[in-house]
Amino acid sequence: MAEPFDAFRYAHAHHDQVAWLSQNTNHLVPPEIVREAVDEAVRRRLYEGYPLASGDPELLELARADLGLGANLPFLTGGGTESLYMITRALLASGDEVLASDPSYLIIHRFVELTGATVRCLDVYRPPWRLTAERIQEAIGPKTRMLLLIDPLNPVGSGYPRDEVRAIAEIAHDAKLLLLNDVTYRDFSDGHALAAEFAPEETITVWSVSKNCGLAGLRLGGFLASPELTKRIARYNTNDLGINILAQVAAKAALRTKPSWIGKVVRQTRENGHRVEEIVRGVDGATTPAAPSRANMTIVDIAPTGVAPEAVQEELLLRHGVFVRAGNYLSPTHGRRFFRVSFSNAPSDIERFGRAFPVVMESLAARAPAASP
Ligand SMILES: Cc1ncc(COP(=O)(O)O)c(C=O)c1O
Repeated sequence: MAEPFDAFRYAHAHHDQVAWLSQNTNHLVPPEIVREAVDEAVRRRLYEGYPLASGDPELLELARADLGLGANLPFLTGGGTESLYMITRALLASGDEVLASDPSYLIIHRFVELTGATVRCLDVYRPPWRLTAERIQEAIGPKTRMLLLIDPLNPVGSGYPRDEVRAIAEIAHDAKLLLLNDVTYRDFSDGHALAAEFAPEETITVWSVSKNCGLAGLRLGGFLASPELTKRIARYNTNDLGINILAQVAAKAALRTKPSWIGKVVRQTRENGHRVEEIVRGVDGATTPAAPSRANMTIVDIAPTGVAPEAVQEELLLRHGVFVRAGNYLSPTHGRRFFRVSFSNAPSDIERFGRAFPVVMESLAARAPAASP
């Protein structure tokens, strides 16, 4: 029997020919910054020894200053992902409930479920395309233990205004709930506010250098919480011997220089986002309903065309070398309506999407069953 098509296997095998619009990665950071730092670390053969287990002190200071959250130092992990696993593992138990959104970054939901806790999803596939304090307040029940606030929200690209973050943080404080604030995409969002500013005892902030600094492949992130919560979470640390030393070197170089390049990266990302909106407007039945994005991604709803997002993903990749992501891995309820495009990329990648998308939709729509409403 034929193997099902594996988009990731295909894309990695053709890595340099692919326009990577699939994982919200950032391809706009000046590459020499990281290259020079890592070359030097390799020349010194730093990789032969273990890193300082608690993390390079300069990196910890840079990460703390970058978040601007006062006295506590962050805890380094293998990407934000490892933090998310540790936090859920340490702080949740069977019978607990976590309030989250749908669509969402569902890997976190899976981590929650591994602890025996359940996730209650509030449908945010409509304006304002994110949770609100009011809906959270209504949904809190006797089992609610944690709120999941991903800001900006992957995959939608929506973000939370400062007053809404404050209101949600106050709910967490008053109801004695934990607030998991995943701010992986925060640098792309104008006027972003951290929940920890308003609920420092209840909030665990998860940050990453994967997207803002363009270092996804190096796997470095972390969390920041009160000393009491940090101690409880740190018990589940598996990287007892420290985080990849070359990743730490690269993250230091990127964070040290970030003020000099992040503005340009965000501006190009915004321009690309507007160009994606324009491209999508040119295809009947396709929309970017949650645009403009406050992150480096948006959703493209194609439900009225009757075309399956998985088919668009496959055709774009196989025939045009453009990798986008079908929505089924991001939303149990709405995943068959949309795909996600990310755009911290060279404008030529966006133009490739612009040439390919109308062609792919035309050929797939001709074969599609009746459109869904
Ligand atoms: C909301 C969110 N949190 C966390 C992550 C994982 O980030 P990292 O690469 O730091 O593990 C992602 C990756 O796409 C994400 O979208």
